[in-house]
Amino acid sequence: MNAVLLEGRSLTAALEDQRRRLADLRPLAAAQDLAYGTLRQYGRLDVTLRALLDKPLDPPGLAGHLLVGLHELEQGEAPDYAVVNETVRGAARLHAPARGLANAVLRNFQRRRAELQAQAARDPRAIWNFPAWWVARLRRQYPTQWQDWLRAANGHPPMTLRINPRKVSLADYLEQLRTAGLEATQTGDQALTLVRPVPVQRLPGFDAGLVSVQDLGAQYAAPLLDCTDGMRVLDACAAPGGKTGHLLELHDLDLTALDSEARRLDRVRQNLDRLGRNARLVRGDAGDPAAWWDGRPFQRILLDAPCTASGVVRRHPDGKWLKREEDIQQLASEQARLLDALWPLLAPGGTLLYATCSVFVEENRAQVAAFLQRHDDAREQAIALPGAASGQLPLTESHDAFFYALLVKT
Ligand SMILES: C[S@@+](CC[C@H](N)C(=O)[O-])C[C@H]1O[C@@H](n2cnc3c(N)ncnc32)[C@H](O)[C@@H]1O
Repeated sequence: MNAVLLEGRSLTAALEDQRRRLADLRPLAAAQDLAYGTLRQYGRLDVTLRALLDKPLDPPGLAGHLLVGLHELEQGEAPDYAVVNETVRGAARLHAPARGLANAVLRNFQRRRAELQAQAARDPRAIWNFPAWWVARLRRQYPTQWQDWLRAANGHPPMTLRINPRKVSLADYLEQLRTAGLEATQTGDQALTLVRPVPVQRLPGFDAGLVSVQDLGAQYAAPLLDCTDGMRVLDACAAPGGKTGHLLELHDLDLTALDSEARRLDRVRQNLDRLGRNARLVRGDAGDPAAWWDGRPFQRILLDAPCTASGVVRRHPDGKWLKREEDIQQLASEQARLLDALWPLLAPGGTLLYATCSVFVEENRAQVAAFLQRHDDAREQAIALPGAASGQLPLTESHDAFFYALLVKT
């Protein structure tokens, strides 16, 4: 918690560090659940904690222990006395004199719970469990949908699988799931959504590449690009390779998978190896093609651009608290740089699919409108996606939010 809240690190990176450090990984699964749960509810927990304190915490790292303790008391899965004991012990390990304070905070919460909850119910941060700027922006940009989106964003994400048609049919895999005691329903051409999420190791044939885990919204990308066998394709921001794998399951392509991060490209290699597919992996900046492009145009380009990831915060609740409003404009400038740099690499008649997993207009509709203003050899081809307006797929119980725009070179 403190790595995220005080050091600004991502929860995934912080958990990865712990995984490397710990000899016994068993306690980590429980700690991971608590961290995700606490960050999902951080708006309300933080408002509650502040109401219980009369001065700032010293050292500030105590907040992590107290927030997790409050979350556990609210959740009610462990007995209250055990939560209080454990939290007090954790706080004392960090700072011995904090024992009394931790005890008082949790005991006060138990006593004043109803009053504190009523108080929190008047604060937008606590009501929505999102930063106030995020709520205000979403409300402005989506006046009729913002509440549904925020509600969905606070729920638990579905676990959707993508069947690899090179290895198994959807009907056969559904049967394999049933045999393994796992219930699922078909939600897309290659998509099965599990009734209850499970660790990937429990998925039949996962290591053999029968199936990948990929949100339903992300599964729209590869078919939208409408490739045919033999095409020369660039996946410009490819890692960890979810969409690369999907493109190569659908067609035999001459595909270049580019990413600026070598370690993330390793993940692309591992994913493609598992699926039994192949691509040319290149490390480079999509905004500087002179450094890696051989001069031969691509017929299709997928630009799954770096973005605020505001559409996938249900899976990464730390993102709600790590992102700052200023990041939106910075990322929008970077996206424009990548779009402009890649456009000359597209063959006439070719298509570029611009994608983000964001909901903010600056990264999506406004970005595309500005691009079309700058490039008179570009036109947008309309796309039809279930529930989407102008390429913006909403955040629902069934999938995360994504934005897609198909840009054709005239
Ligand atoms: C949204 S993720 C891509 C997800 C991927 N397409 C998938 O479906 O699994 C964005 C990726 O862009 C990469 N990236 C960021 N800036 C880049 C740049 N200037 N050039 C190339 N890759 C970049 C990041 O390392 C990250 O892996």
